[in-house]
Amino acid sequence: MKAVVDGVRKDIKAVWYEDGKVMMIDQRELPSRLAIVGFTDHADVAEAIRNMTTRGAPSIGASAAYGMCLAALNGYDLTKAAEEIKSARPTAYDLFHAVDWMCERLESGEDPVRSADSYAQLTIDKCRLIGQHGMKLIEDDMRLMTHCNAGALATVDVGTALAPMRAAHDAGKRFFVYVSETRPRLQGMQLTAWELGQEGIDHRIIPDGASAYYMSQGVDFIITGADRIAANGDFANKIGTFDKAIAAKHFGIPFYVAAPVSTFDLNMGSGKEIVIEQRSQDEVNVVAGHRIAPEGSQALNPAFDVTPADLVTGFITEKGILRPDEVGVMRD
Ligand code: MRU
Repeated sequence: MKAVVDGVRKDIKAVWYEDGKVMMIDQRELPSRLAIVGFTDHADVAEAIRNMTTRGAPSIGASAAYGMCLAALNGYDLTKAAEEIKSARPTAYDLFHAVDWMCERLESGEDPVRSADSYAQLTIDKCRLIGQHGMKLIEDDMRLMTHCNAGALATVDVGTALAPMRAAHDAGKRFFVYVSETRPRLQGMQLTAWELGQEGIDHRIIPDGASAYYMSQGVDFIITGADRIAANGDFANKIGTFDKAIAAKHFGIPFYVAAPVSTFDLNMGSGKEIVIEQRSQDEVNVVAGHRIAPEGSQALNPAFDVTPADLVTGFITEKGILRPDEVGVMRD
């Protein structure tokens, strides 16, 4: 992705390896500051996944791959490291896929840095293909809607839901994007709006609760990412995705999910089996460091919800656009 770093506009990834360190953009600091942090220990990478320094399913996967790389370089027990990293967050399948992918390569003696670098590069390559397939859906003057951040920050580079937008914009198409703010962590407002702004893509931030209203005014299609997709096409994504899919069905608006094959967990028969991460209630009732909820009121904070397959028009993958009933027969 293009971003201004130390006053210079350049290409930057969400996570990479450099001089013995796993480097990543601290996504908690955007959009006010583009802060880069570096780690030399896999346990710190696991903590960075847990506390959302790095986030978004494919970026979590690549960070986990680099975490396994550090564990190998430091001579740490790989089985233990794999368990520690996998315990960081439960929902994004890419985390588990990446750790297992790395374990296979490290056990067969492959170079840790080269392996993790190729995992990250494969992720980027898949996203570019998602962009090529998905851009065919975008026409001039369309109004799109997205939720959370499924952009370059969430995928090392390029994005999943934002990949078709980037490709269409590069091809000269003119369109507009509604970005829902994504309470409580505000990934839509703070990250997606920042990325679209860096690219010069026309967009407006809307409150999460305004999605159905804007759909009633005319939206051509909705596109989100996913954290885990079950064999029957049910999928987990950021809390609030399910509401949008229901509203889209009401208005007859197509609903697309963009994700690489590493997000598909074909061992899960349906979305009922997906573990939904519950995060701290402070993310809901504390805003900008101030508690705004009444003392004594408790909050609930599920990080994801599960949208049933029958609300999905298609899955945009690196292999092309699949109908929900095609997911179960797909192979890596
Ligand atoms: O809690 P987050 O910010 O990691 O959640 C991210 C999402 O829900 C994204 O939509 C999903 O990971 C897809 S990222 C390409």
